[in-house]
Amino acid sequence: KPMVVVKAEAQPINPEIRKSEEKVVDSVVVSELSKPLTVYCRCWRSGTFPLCDGSHVKHNKATGDNVGPLLLKKQ
Ligand code: FES
Repeated sequence: KPMVVVKAEAQPINPEIRKSEEKVVDSVVVSELSKPLTVYCRCWRSGTFPLCDGSHVKHNKATGDNVGPLLLKKQ
């Protein structure tokens, strides 16, 4: 059976959420974290998923999308 490869980078993954913003980034402050900052990918393009590796920048530029990571910050 032939494998079907879909080039996901060609399309935005965010059709409607906060499209007036250049990049949708959210932060959550948590008191019990082992590290001061953990950055989670929400564009599904990261080579280090589930952590963000900055690939959202290339994805946004190629598609006109505005996705960005979720930041977990230690309180
Ligand atoms: Fe996906 Fe940064 S690489 S949000």
